[in-house]
Amino acid sequence: MSLRTVSTPVEDMRERLIIGLDVSTVEEARAIVERVGDAGAFYKIGYQLAYAGGLEFARELIGQGKKVFLDLKLHDIANTVEQGVRSVARLGATFLTVHAYPQTMRAAMQGKAESSLNILAVTVLTSYDDSDLEEAGYAPVPAAELVVRRAKQARDIGIDGIVCAAPEAQRVRAILGPDRFIVTPGIRPAGAEAGDQKRVVTPADAIRAGATHLVVARPIIKAADPRAAAQAILDEMSQARQA
Ligand code: C5P
Repeated sequence: MSLRTVSTPVEDMRERLIIGLDVSTVEEARAIVERVGDAGAFYKIGYQLAYAGGLEFARELIGQGKKVFLDLKLHDIANTVEQGVRSVARLGATFLTVHAYPQTMRAAMQGKAESSLNILAVTVLTSYDDSDLEEAGYAPVPAAELVVRRAKQARDIGIDGIVCAAPEAQRVRAILGPDRFIVTPGIRPAGAEAGDQKRVVTPADAIRAGATHLVVARPIIKAADPRAAAQAILDEMSQARQA
């Protein structure tokens, strides 16, 4: 998948809506995928499900023609990252996250080689503020500055994309240029509950800010009708493209 295929006029917004399978069992995940039906084409599997049979389930989804984002946020010595990414590439995933440390990003790009896997970098975890960074041993540096520094390093290494909060998407897009992926969580359709997300934006605003893909979990997986909830978000995304 290249950005060109996701930004053609006849694009299928389903390719750009990533539904977060934030559940603890494969049975629950399978039930959600069935209920969303053909409104869902792309699913994210994170720690919670990955360590509970989620990697096998990823294979099952890929076998059904769905795309999979493995949100595993890898970070280790270069050889381990490279070999791990090689295995993820063989599994057939479309997106994989790594922490935006230069060694790690280079190793991941090496590991994906010519496969269709795309490596996404996480610059600074959004749960970290300036004082958390200092506590973790970094020389005093504002988190926002570190995001910019790492986004530039990611770009220079040739990373496929970056995961960032929607309000940062515009700034990150300016650094990355037009042809890389920007994947944003923290999305809430108008009127939905924010939950523990502090800064949320609507699907339309995230698209307008330059996001290529939106990650949405609770507003879909906890909805009484997950298929209708996904469809409503797809409609909002399409409207933003037409505006
Ligand atoms: O339920 P909700 O739509 O808030 O879920 C968003 C998904 O995106 C979750 O899987 C969450 O872990 C992930 N995420 C996030 N904020 C970040 C990075 C990832 O919400 N900064």
